[in-house]
Amino acid sequence: MTTTGQVIKCKAAVAWGPGKPLSIEDVEVAPPKVHEVRIKIVATGVCHTDWEYLFETGKGMKFRPFPLVLGHEAAGIVESVGPEVTKFSAGDKVIPLFLPQCEECERCLSPKTNHCKRNWANTQAGVLADGTSRISCKGQRVYQFLGVSSFSQYTVVPDTSLTKIRSDAPLDKVCLLGCGVSTGYGAAVKTGKVESDSSCAVFGLGAVGLAAVMGCRAAGARRIIGVDINPRKFEKAKVFGATECVNPGDHTKPIQEVLVEMTDGGVDFALECVGSPAVMTAALESTADAWGMCVIAGWTETEAMSVKVEKILMGRTLKGTYFGGWKSVQDVPKLVDEYMDNKLKLDEFITHNLPLGHINEAFDTLKSGNSIRTVISLWQSGGST
Ligand code: APR
Ligand code: ZN
Repeated sequence: MTTTGQVIKCKAAVAWGPGKPLSIEDVEVAPPKVHEVRIKIVATGVCHTDWEYLFETGKGMKFRPFPLVLGHEAAGIVESVGPEVTKFSAGDKVIPLFLPQCEECERCLSPKTNHCKRNWANTQAGVLADGTSRISCKGQRVYQFLGVSSFSQYTVVPDTSLTKIRSDAPLDKVCLLGCGVSTGYGAAVKTGKVESDSSCAVFGLGAVGLAAVMGCRAAGARRIIGVDINPRKFEKAKVFGATECVNPGDHTKPIQEVLVEMTDGGVDFALECVGSPAVMTAALESTADAWGMCVIAGWTETEAMSVKVEKILMGRTLKGTYFGGWKSVQDVPKLVDEYMDNKLKLDEFITHNLPLGHINEAFDTLKSGNSIRTVISLWQSGGST
């Protein structure tokens, strides 16, 4: 029986308010409107940013509307397309993109940036282009997180916020390319342009940091120093290519001084993958004065970092990266190819697999430092689904 043009009833994990656990609900997902695509989500990662929006809204994060379906790191299959959609058809394997690539705006036409302007304001407000959402629950509108909402068995996204991937790609692995892995990997190879034979320090060894380590390795860095306050992350960091690891807690001196000593003047590249202003300052100050490059991949919306002007005057560069600098629609399928060609690791990031009904456990393991990535299967039964 076709579902095209019909409202689909399915399960989703709904966030009813900040700080409350997600609740598995029956939701209604409306058909796609013009230039929209409805997708069946097969697998989704649980990212640090999902947790932050749930628990830090109004604190480290700006306020966003609730109720909301979180999730933005996913892969699925096109169920149906709305009017005027030309690039997708039912059955296509796809990755939804919280950062669109419309290929028309001035940002998309510039090689200098990946910050597509299309739908930015709507995305931040939790709605699609017409100012509404396609998801509702108990007759109430449910907002869409970053225009995606992958903690739902079905969702609707703009056709500029979606990319088609090869049909043999395993969705329960390549979902990770929808956010964290692409962000960290791109921070090193795309935004930072890490050079061969260079020295690098990666601050924070979660999924973003491990992907940055993998990027430094792919770029041919000679020395890759992983930095984390949780030493349980070090073994994994070595799997991804870290040559040594340092725990700031083992030193009485500030970590930047330790790194400057270890490298006789500072690292060539530092990548901040924590989202802490103090760590950002330490990362910048750990780089070599004449040419050090510090790339910030960690996220904080409301806090400021401190920069001693002298550190910049001496020749260092401070850069931020959003989604690793990748132009999402065109670059994500290439990253899928890299994974399929064994040039990029994904399986090693996945420490837990859970059904949707157990999604709150994914937040618990993330915050306890016991997981790198949990992948949620939307169609596997278990828990309260
Ligand atoms: N110094 C070094 N490492 C730290 C510090 C610190 N002061 N504080 C925390 N960490 C480590 C944690 O121990 C953890 O291993 O940073 C790591 C962060 O990993 P995750 O929580 O798994 O987060 P991740 O998904 O990798 O995202 C990191 O990037 O995109 C952003 O929003 C995201 O800000 C977040 C960051
Ligand atoms: Zn654009």
